[in-house]
Amino acid sequence: MIHHDPKCRSFHFKGAESSYLIGVSEGLDIQLIHWGKALDDAALGEKISAWMAVQAGPLSESHPREFSGFGGGDLRSPAFLLAHADGSRASQFQYQSHEIKPGKPGFPGPQSYVENETEASTLRLALKDPLTSQQLDLFYSFYPSRDILTRRAVLTQGSSAGRLLRLMSASVDLPAGDYFSTSLPGDWARERRLQQAPVQQALLRLESRRGQAHRMSPFVAVSDGGPDEKKGQAWGLSLAYSGNFVIELEGQPDRRLRLNVGLNDFDFQWQMEAGERFVSPECVLAWSGQGLGGLSRRLHRFVRSRICRGPWRDAPRPVLINSWEAHYFDFKHADIVKLAEGARELGADLVVLDDGWFGRRDSDNSSLGDWVDDLRKLPKGVAGLSQEIHAMGLKFGLWFEPEMISPDSELYRAHPDWALAVKGRAVVPSRNQYVIDMSRPEVRDHLIELMSRTVEAARLDYIKWDMNRPLWDAGSTAWPAERQGELCHRFMMGTYDLMERLQKRFPALLVEGCAGGGGRFDYGVLCYHPQIWASDNTDALDRIAIQWGSSYFLPPITMGAHISESPNHFTRRATPLSLRAHVAMGANFGIELAPARLSAQEKAEVAAHVAHYKKIRHVVHEGEFYRLARPPHAAWCFVSQDQKEALLFAFGPLASVTLDGLNGSWKYRVEALNQTRAGASLMQEGLKLGLGDMRSAVYSLEAEPV
Ligand code: DGJ
Repeated sequence: MIHHDPKCRSFHFKGAESSYLIGVSEGLDIQLIHWGKALDDAALGEKISAWMAVQAGPLSESHPREFSGFGGGDLRSPAFLLAHADGSRASQFQYQSHEIKPGKPGFPGPQSYVENETEASTLRLALKDPLTSQQLDLFYSFYPSRDILTRRAVLTQGSSAGRLLRLMSASVDLPAGDYFSTSLPGDWARERRLQQAPVQQALLRLESRRGQAHRMSPFVAVSDGGPDEKKGQAWGLSLAYSGNFVIELEGQPDRRLRLNVGLNDFDFQWQMEAGERFVSPECVLAWSGQGLGGLSRRLHRFVRSRICRGPWRDAPRPVLINSWEAHYFDFKHADIVKLAEGARELGADLVVLDDGWFGRRDSDNSSLGDWVDDLRKLPKGVAGLSQEIHAMGLKFGLWFEPEMISPDSELYRAHPDWALAVKGRAVVPSRNQYVIDMSRPEVRDHLIELMSRTVEAARLDYIKWDMNRPLWDAGSTAWPAERQGELCHRFMMGTYDLMERLQKRFPALLVEGCAGGGGRFDYGVLCYHPQIWASDNTDALDRIAIQWGSSYFLPPITMGAHISESPNHFTRRATPLSLRAHVAMGANFGIELAPARLSAQEKAEVAAHVAHYKKIRHVVHEGEFYRLARPPHAAWCFVSQDQKEALLFAFGPLASVTLDGLNGSWKYRVEALNQTRAGASLMQEGLKLGLGDMRSAVYSLEAEPV
């Protein structure tokens, strides 16, 4: 798995298709020798000899360094920056020792996992700065059969105090190439829009400073040559973290590329007392020789099986109906019962009561934090409502926004210091709310008790965990002056702690993440919430682009996608019901409308889509995903692991499409088109579809016995 060659001082992570090879230079610096195609012994020898010839001499910007600090001849953006007791900021860490162990060590916060110790192994490289006696431990966990590497760094302070100004989770120096980056910028209601551009000689920062990631996702892919779905090398890095992150791409004059991925150093500073330890989040790294499509599928498999966890990881996800667009804040007990009756007619499994069930929340200007039933709207309480819905044979779930507090709430009146605030400055509300100080253990204790009470009393099957405002005013009276720069990260780690406690206390509870739509959708939150509401924008055409962009690093089963009303509440665009249903069926399907407002014909149509989804959802959940035609004339397909079943999703205007991922020598039956075709022909000549504007289809393909 991880081969150490003491003579060459190299470590080779050899996977089924890829190799990651690092070495310790003569100057005891850790350097990247190769990250790409799997190396056989001859190629390995060549790579090491070529590196041996260039690794010597004082450190400079021509060295492919694995975790460079500041100081000396390398002024590229560093992987870490430390302020020492004497005011200096230069560091010189040198390799000291290493250990290789089976499995993967556990750290606080979100992380990928192993189910048994043989599926991964971990290299710990211990580095020391002789002057300050600080220690840096670089952890590399490698899953050879999955070709996935995870990295993180742990800093242990020496005998005097200092300040941590920056610590990346992973840093990689790629050799000279014609690189293109793929990133996912966006905004509220238009999350994760695909952006591809040549890498320039410049320092590009993809980042979030807001505690939310509507505007940028913690993911980057780099291709050598123009981005291609099927061929060429692609490298992908994604941070398992939902707070402020940065991804740096620094193109060098000689076309080499430095990549840094980690916590954002913007407004960040961590006080390091003597002996204190700081652990970076985990970064997931993957390489593919089959372009961006191959890279996405490798990441999807990993996320589905080693990021997502718990009973819902593999179980069919319930088709839910959510009350938000049906009722917003305006509902009574009887309305939700009626919604449930409609849901049952449509074939849904789970009724979700969204915002507005607690405190006195008639609009978004009050009651966050008062997680107790509003008996004006629900005289039998949430428990009474839940009992009725359970008696109808349906599951029941509720909305929470645990990280927030309304200035107009009982909780805020009792604990004004529980809102994040910068000392002496007025708190700036957003959506009329403040952020609760999740860095305080007593806040988390209070929240877990309150939430658990409702989960138990109402026997909740599901929670939608929302987070609707950015994190500014990140100050807290719970921490001393010198630790105020730690608040954003402490907030995030506190939030993860609450998520984890809820998960441990109620392992069967399905929790769907949300942050003003898709503002928190990453490998960190997916460790606790196996599905995420992908966007507040439920317009089918906009959703195609959002789901398409998201698919570069997120498997479709993790994306909450619902059929909503037409005209769409957000864009006012009218779209056919079939289009709305087909878009949602390509992800984690649900319903976001009032059945009572549907005609009998529309009801029958929605019910047919629900039944159709239930028949095919195992392929959407477990299948391999192929992007075929780029939006707006989009098409994608899922292919089951045994290649016997495939689903083609096509959205017009689209004349024809070529498929991918099928077995070329098998024949496939496309019942809806009354055609039986060889896999090879479907992947070369393609299928004629002739779908007009706003027309769409989901075709099932079945392999015929050979
Ligand atoms: C934002 C979410 O994205 C919506 O689906 C809904 O839950 C509202 N918040 C409720 O306030």
